[in-house]
Amino acid sequence: MTTRKPIRKAVFPVAGLGTRFLPATKAIPKELLPIVDRPLIQYAVDEAREAGIEQMIFVTGRGKTAIVEHFDVAYELESTMEERGKDMSVLDPTRATPGDIITVRQQVPLGLGHAIWCARAIVGDEPFAILLPDEMMVGDAGARGGCMKQMVEAYSEVGGNLISVLEVPHDEVSSYGVIDPGEERGNLTEVKGLVEKPPVDEAPSNKIVSGRYILQPEVMRTLETQGKGAGGEIQLTDAMARMIGKQPFNAVTFEGRRFDCGSKLGFVEATLALALEREDMGDQVRAMAQRLLAQ
Ligand code: UTP
Repeated sequence: MTTRKPIRKAVFPVAGLGTRFLPATKAIPKELLPIVDRPLIQYAVDEAREAGIEQMIFVTGRGKTAIVEHFDVAYELESTMEERGKDMSVLDPTRATPGDIITVRQQVPLGLGHAIWCARAIVGDEPFAILLPDEMMVGDAGARGGCMKQMVEAYSEVGGNLISVLEVPHDEVSSYGVIDPGEERGNLTEVKGLVEKPPVDEAPSNKIVSGRYILQPEVMRTLETQGKGAGGEIQLTDAMARMIGKQPFNAVTFEGRRFDCGSKLGFVEATLALALEREDMGDQVRAMAQRLLAQ
Protein backbone atom coordinates (compact mmCIF):
# COMPACT_ATOMS: atom_id res chain seq x y z
CA MET A 1 0.00 0.00 0.00
CA THR A 2 1.32 3.44 -0.91
CA THR A 3 1.33 6.09 1.77
CA ARG A 4 0.30 9.44 0.39
CA LYS A 5 0.96 12.71 2.08
CA PRO A 6 -2.42 14.01 3.28
CA ILE A 7 -3.79 17.27 1.86
CA ARG A 8 -3.22 19.72 4.71
CA LYS A 9 -2.92 23.03 2.89
CA ALA A 10 -5.28 24.97 0.67
CA VAL A 11 -4.44 28.03 -1.40
CA PHE A 12 -7.19 30.61 -1.98
CA PRO A 13 -6.19 33.06 -4.70
CA VAL A 14 -8.01 36.27 -3.78
CA ALA A 15 -5.86 38.95 -5.38
CA GLY A 16 -7.93 39.44 -8.55
CA LEU A 17 -9.42 42.85 -9.31
CA GLY A 18 -13.03 41.68 -9.64
CA THR A 19 -13.71 44.08 -12.51
CA ARG A 20 -16.91 42.29 -13.54
CA PHE A 21 -18.47 43.36 -10.26
CA LEU A 22 -17.56 47.05 -10.25
CA PRO A 23 -18.44 49.37 -8.65
CA ALA A 24 -19.32 46.98 -5.77
CA THR A 25 -15.75 45.67 -5.66
CA LYS A 26 -13.97 49.04 -5.73
CA ALA A 27 -13.40 49.09 -1.95
CA ILE A 28 -14.79 45.67 -0.94
CA PRO A 29 -13.08 42.45 -2.05
CA LYS A 30 -15.26 40.28 -4.30
CA GLU A 31 -14.64 37.40 -1.88
CA LEU A 32 -16.52 39.25 0.87
CA LEU A 33 -19.71 39.70 -1.13
CA PRO A 34 -22.32 37.67 0.75
CA ILE A 35 -24.57 34.93 -0.51
CA VAL A 36 -27.47 35.46 1.93
CA ASP A 37 -25.46 36.02 5.15
CA ARG A 38 -22.03 34.46 4.52
CA PRO A 39 -19.27 35.92 2.38
CA LEU A 40 -18.00 33.84 -0.52
CA ILE A 41 -14.67 33.22 1.23
CA GLN A 42 -16.49 31.65 4.18
CA TYR A 43 -18.19 29.05 1.96
CA ALA A 44 -14.82 28.15 0.42
CA VAL A 45 -13.03 27.88 3.80
CA ASP A 46 -15.89 25.76 5.19
CA GLU A 47 -15.58 23.46 2.17
CA ALA A 48 -11.83 23.06 2.78
CA ARG A 49 -12.35 22.39 6.48
CA GLU A 50 -14.99 19.77 5.70
CA ALA A 51 -12.33 18.03 3.58
CA GLY A 52 -9.95 17.88 6.56
CA ILE A 53 -7.68 20.74 5.43
CA GLU A 54 -6.12 22.72 8.26
CA GLN A 55 -3.99 25.47 6.78
CA MET A 56 -5.62 28.19 4.69
CA ILE A 57 -3.24 30.23 2.56
CA PHE A 58 -4.74 33.43 1.15
CA VAL A 59 -2.95 35.05 -1.78
CA THR A 60 -4.07 38.63 -1.28
CA GLY A 61 -3.40 42.03 -2.77
CA ARG A 62 -4.02 45.67 -1.94
CA GLY A 63 -7.48 46.36 -0.54
CA LYS A 64 -8.01 42.73 0.49
CA THR A 65 -7.07 42.85 4.18
CA ALA A 66 -10.74 42.70 5.26
CA ILE A 67 -10.72 39.04 4.11
CA VAL A 68 -8.19 38.21 6.82
CA GLU A 69 -10.06 40.29 9.41
CA HIS A 70 -13.15 38.21 8.74
CA PHE A 71 -11.32 35.28 10.38
CA ASP A 72 -9.91 37.33 13.27
CA VAL A 73 -11.35 38.16 16.69
CA ALA A 74 -13.62 41.24 16.51
CA TYR A 75 -13.06 42.25 20.11
CA GLU A 76 -15.44 45.20 20.39
CA LEU A 77 -18.26 43.47 18.50
CA GLU A 78 -17.89 40.27 20.49
CA SER A 79 -17.75 41.88 23.94
CA THR A 80 -20.76 44.07 23.13
CA MET A 81 -22.70 41.06 21.86
CA GLU A 82 -21.77 39.11 24.98
CA GLU A 83 -22.85 41.97 27.29
CA ARG A 84 -26.18 42.14 25.50
CA GLY A 85 -26.70 38.38 25.66
CA LYS A 86 -26.71 37.94 21.85
CA ASP A 87 -26.26 34.57 20.17
CA MET A 88 -22.49 34.30 19.58
CA SER A 89 -22.70 31.05 17.63
CA VAL A 90 -23.27 32.98 14.38
CA LEU A 91 -19.57 33.86 14.55
CA ASP A 92 -18.38 30.26 14.98
CA PRO A 93 -17.47 29.71 11.32
CA THR A 94 -15.19 32.76 11.44
CA ARG A 95 -13.03 31.29 14.25
CA ALA A 96 -9.61 30.08 13.17
CA THR A 97 -6.97 28.18 15.09
CA PRO A 98 -4.09 30.61 15.66
CA GLY A 99 -1.53 30.17 12.91
CA ASP A 100 -3.89 28.39 10.52
CA ILE A 101 -4.62 31.44 8.36
CA ILE A 102 -1.58 32.52 6.41
CA THR A 103 -1.38 35.31 3.88
CA VAL A 104 1.05 35.98 1.10
CA ARG A 105 0.91 38.96 -1.19
CA GLN A 106 0.65 39.07 -4.96
CA GLN A 107 1.79 42.63 -5.58
CA VAL A 108 0.53 42.79 -9.17
CA PRO A 109 -2.36 40.61 -10.41
CA LEU A 110 -0.47 38.86 -13.20
CA GLY A 111 -2.87 35.94 -13.40
CA LEU A 112 -4.15 32.91 -11.49
CA GLY A 113 -1.00 30.87 -12.19
CA HIS A 114 1.17 33.66 -10.84
CA ALA A 115 -1.05 33.96 -7.74
CA ILE A 116 -0.57 30.26 -6.98
CA TRP A 117 3.19 30.55 -7.50
CA CYS A 118 3.26 33.34 -4.88
CA ALA A 119 2.37 30.68 -2.26
CA ARG A 120 5.30 28.39 -3.13
CA ALA A 121 7.30 28.93 0.08
CA ILE A 122 4.32 28.16 2.31
CA VAL A 123 3.17 25.17 0.26
CA GLY A 124 6.67 23.68 0.36
CA ASP A 125 7.14 20.12 -0.78
CA GLU A 126 3.67 18.67 -0.37
CA PRO A 127 0.53 18.23 -2.46
CA PHE A 128 -1.98 21.01 -1.88
CA ALA A 129 -5.50 22.09 -2.72
CA ILE A 130 -6.63 25.20 -4.58
CA LEU A 131 -10.10 26.70 -4.17
CA LEU A 132 -11.31 29.68 -6.18
CA PRO A 133 -13.77 31.32 -3.78
CA ASP A 134 -15.81 33.02 -6.50
CA GLU A 135 -16.80 29.61 -7.83
CA MET A 136 -19.29 28.31 -5.36
CA MET A 137 -19.64 24.53 -5.26
CA VAL A 138 -22.66 23.01 -3.55
CA GLY A 139 -22.64 19.22 -3.14
CA ASP A 140 -25.83 17.29 -3.99
CA ALA A 141 -27.94 16.23 -1.04
CA GLY A 142 -27.10 12.55 -1.56
CA ALA A 143 -23.42 13.17 -2.40
CA ARG A 144 -20.44 12.43 -0.13
CA GLY A 145 -20.04 16.02 1.00
CA GLY A 146 -18.77 19.11 -0.79
CA CYS A 147 -16.51 19.33 -3.80
CA MET A 148 -13.15 19.35 -2.00
CA LYS A 149 -14.21 16.43 0.20
CA GLN A 150 -15.11 14.44 -2.93
CA MET A 151 -11.71 15.34 -4.37
CA VAL A 152 -9.73 14.43 -1.26
CA GLU A 153 -11.49 11.04 -1.25
CA ALA A 154 -10.54 10.52 -4.89
CA TYR A 155 -6.98 11.63 -4.08
CA SER A 156 -6.65 9.00 -1.39
CA GLU A 157 -7.43 6.40 -4.10
CA VAL A 158 -5.35 7.65 -7.04
CA GLY A 159 -2.99 10.41 -5.85
CA GLY A 160 -1.32 12.55 -8.52
CA ASN A 161 -3.00 15.72 -9.76
CA LEU A 162 -6.77 16.19 -9.74
CA ILE A 163 -9.08 18.77 -11.27
CA SER A 164 -12.76 18.99 -10.52
CA VAL A 165 -15.00 18.95 -13.60
CA LEU A 166 -18.68 19.32 -14.33
CA GLU A 167 -20.65 18.37 -17.41
CA VAL A 168 -22.41 21.22 -19.21
CA PRO A 169 -24.58 21.23 -22.37
CA HIS A 170 -22.17 20.90 -25.32
CA ASP A 171 -23.11 24.29 -26.84
CA GLU A 172 -21.92 26.07 -23.66
CA VAL A 173 -18.36 24.72 -23.58
CA SER A 174 -16.66 27.66 -25.27
CA SER A 175 -16.89 29.83 -22.14
CA TYR A 176 -14.76 27.41 -20.10
CA GLY A 177 -11.59 25.36 -19.79
CA VAL A 178 -12.40 21.89 -21.18
CA ILE A 179 -10.62 18.56 -20.67
CA ASP A 180 -9.59 16.10 -23.36
CA PRO A 181 -10.81 12.92 -21.66
CA GLY A 182 -9.13 9.53 -21.62
CA GLU A 183 -10.20 6.41 -19.78
CA GLU A 184 -13.14 6.71 -17.33
CA ARG A 185 -13.46 4.86 -14.01
CA GLY A 186 -16.46 5.76 -11.85
CA ASN A 187 -16.28 9.48 -11.16
CA LEU A 188 -12.65 9.66 -12.38
CA THR A 189 -11.60 10.55 -15.92
CA GLU A 190 -8.02 10.54 -17.12
CA VAL A 191 -7.02 13.99 -18.40
CA LYS A 192 -5.11 13.80 -21.68
CA GLY A 193 -5.19 17.51 -22.39
CA LEU A 194 -6.69 20.85 -21.39
CA VAL A 195 -8.08 23.45 -23.77
CA GLU A 196 -9.10 26.93 -22.72
CA LYS A 197 -12.37 28.22 -24.24
CA PRO A 198 -12.49 26.01 -27.38
CA PRO A 199 -14.97 26.66 -30.23
CA VAL A 200 -17.98 24.34 -29.76
CA ASP A 201 -17.10 22.11 -32.76
CA GLU A 202 -13.49 21.70 -31.58
CA ALA A 203 -14.21 20.98 -27.90
CA PRO A 204 -12.83 17.55 -26.91
CA SER A 205 -15.64 17.00 -24.35
CA ASN A 206 -18.36 18.75 -22.38
CA LYS A 207 -16.45 18.39 -19.10
CA ILE A 208 -15.51 21.85 -17.91
CA VAL A 209 -12.85 22.67 -15.36
CA SER A 210 -14.33 24.18 -12.20
CA GLY A 211 -12.39 26.02 -9.54
CA ARG A 212 -11.06 23.17 -7.39
CA TYR A 213 -7.71 21.43 -7.76
CA ILE A 214 -5.34 19.12 -5.90
CA LEU A 215 -1.85 19.54 -7.32
CA GLN A 216 1.61 18.18 -6.68
CA PRO A 217 4.24 20.72 -5.56
CA GLU A 218 6.09 20.34 -8.90
CA VAL A 219 3.49 22.70 -10.39
CA MET A 220 5.36 25.53 -8.63
CA ARG A 221 8.49 24.74 -10.64
CA THR A 222 6.43 24.61 -13.84
CA LEU A 223 4.84 27.97 -13.01
CA GLU A 224 8.27 29.46 -12.46
CA THR A 225 8.98 29.26 -16.19
CA GLN A 226 5.42 29.75 -17.39
CA GLY A 227 5.05 32.58 -19.89
CA LYS A 228 1.97 34.73 -20.33
CA GLY A 229 -1.04 33.04 -21.91
CA ALA A 230 -4.64 34.04 -22.68
CA GLY A 231 -5.40 37.65 -21.70
CA GLY A 232 -1.69 38.35 -21.16
CA GLU A 233 -1.93 36.52 -17.79
CA ILE A 234 0.16 33.68 -16.36
CA GLN A 235 -2.40 30.88 -16.56
CA LEU A 236 -2.64 27.90 -14.20
CA THR A 237 -4.26 25.90 -17.03
CA ASP A 238 -1.14 26.33 -19.20
CA ALA A 239 1.15 25.09 -16.41
CA MET A 240 -1.09 22.09 -15.73
CA ALA A 241 -1.22 21.28 -19.45
CA ARG A 242 2.59 21.11 -19.47
CA MET A 243 2.56 18.62 -16.60
CA ILE A 244 0.20 16.17 -18.33
CA GLY A 245 2.18 13.13 -19.45
CA LYS A 246 4.89 13.73 -16.84
CA GLN A 247 2.59 13.20 -13.86
CA PRO A 248 -0.76 11.41 -13.40
CA PHE A 249 -3.67 13.78 -14.08
CA ASN A 250 -7.31 12.92 -13.45
CA ALA A 251 -10.60 14.78 -13.36
CA VAL A 252 -13.18 14.18 -10.65
CA THR A 253 -16.76 14.68 -11.85
CA PHE A 254 -18.37 16.73 -9.11
CA GLU A 255 -21.69 15.53 -7.76
CA GLY A 256 -23.27 18.91 -7.20
CA ARG A 257 -23.87 22.37 -8.59
CA ARG A 258 -21.48 25.18 -9.47
CA PHE A 259 -22.38 28.85 -9.30
CA ASP A 260 -20.08 31.31 -11.01
CA CYS A 261 -20.29 34.04 -8.39
CA GLY A 262 -17.64 36.11 -10.17
CA SER A 263 -20.40 37.02 -12.66
CA LYS A 264 -23.51 38.99 -11.75
CA LEU A 265 -25.92 36.39 -13.14
CA GLY A 266 -24.23 33.51 -11.32
CA PHE A 267 -24.20 35.53 -8.11
CA VAL A 268 -27.94 36.25 -8.30
CA GLU A 269 -28.63 32.58 -9.14
CA ALA A 270 -26.60 31.39 -6.13
CA THR A 271 -28.35 33.86 -3.84
CA LEU A 272 -31.78 32.71 -4.96
CA ALA A 273 -30.92 28.99 -4.96
CA LEU A 274 -29.41 29.05 -1.47
CA ALA A 275 -32.09 31.30 -0.01
CA LEU A 276 -34.81 28.96 -1.36
CA GLU A 277 -33.09 26.00 0.32
CA ARG A 278 -32.64 27.64 3.71
CA GLU A 279 -34.82 26.23 6.45
CA ASP A 280 -35.11 29.59 8.20
CA MET A 281 -36.33 31.54 5.17
CA GLY A 282 -36.97 29.24 2.18
CA ASP A 283 -40.78 29.39 2.35
CA GLN A 284 -40.82 33.16 2.61
CA VAL A 285 -38.35 33.55 -0.25
CA ARG A 286 -40.43 31.23 -2.45
CA ALA A 287 -43.60 33.22 -1.74
CA MET A 288 -41.71 36.46 -2.43
CA ALA A 289 -40.29 35.13 -5.72
CA GLN A 290 -43.73 33.95 -6.84
CA ARG A 291 -45.20 37.36 -6.02
CA LEU A 292 -42.47 39.14 -7.97
CA LEU A 293 -42.80 36.81 -10.97
CA ALA A 294 -46.54 37.32 -11.11
CA GLN A 295 -46.18 41.09 -11.53
P1 UTP B 1 -10.94 35.89 -12.21
O1 UTP B 1 -10.71 35.45 -13.60
O2 UTP B 1 -12.31 35.72 -11.67
O3 UTP B 1 -10.46 37.40 -12.12
O4 UTP B 1 -9.89 35.15 -11.30
P2 UTP B 1 -10.85 38.55 -11.12
O5 UTP B 1 -9.85 39.62 -11.25
O6 UTP B 1 -11.08 38.03 -9.73
O7 UTP B 1 -12.28 39.07 -11.63
P3 UTP B 1 -12.70 39.87 -12.97
O8 UTP B 1 -12.59 38.88 -14.11
O9 UTP B 1 -11.82 41.08 -13.12
O10 UTP B 1 -14.13 40.25 -12.69
C1 UTP B 1 -10.09 33.84 -10.82
C2 UTP B 1 -9.51 33.74 -9.43
O11 UTP B 1 -8.12 33.99 -9.45
C3 UTP B 1 -7.78 35.08 -8.58
C4 UTP B 1 -9.08 35.84 -8.39
O12 UTP B 1 -9.06 36.52 -7.15
C5 UTP B 1 -10.12 34.73 -8.46
O13 UTP B 1 -10.26 34.05 -7.23
N1 UTP B 1 -6.69 35.85 -9.20
C6 UTP B 1 -6.77 36.16 -10.52
C7 UTP B 1 -5.62 36.24 -8.45
O14 UTP B 1 -5.55 35.97 -7.22
N2 UTP B 1 -4.62 36.93 -9.04
C8 UTP B 1 -4.64 37.24 -10.35
O15 UTP B 1 -3.68 37.86 -10.84
C9 UTP B 1 -5.76 36.86 -11.11
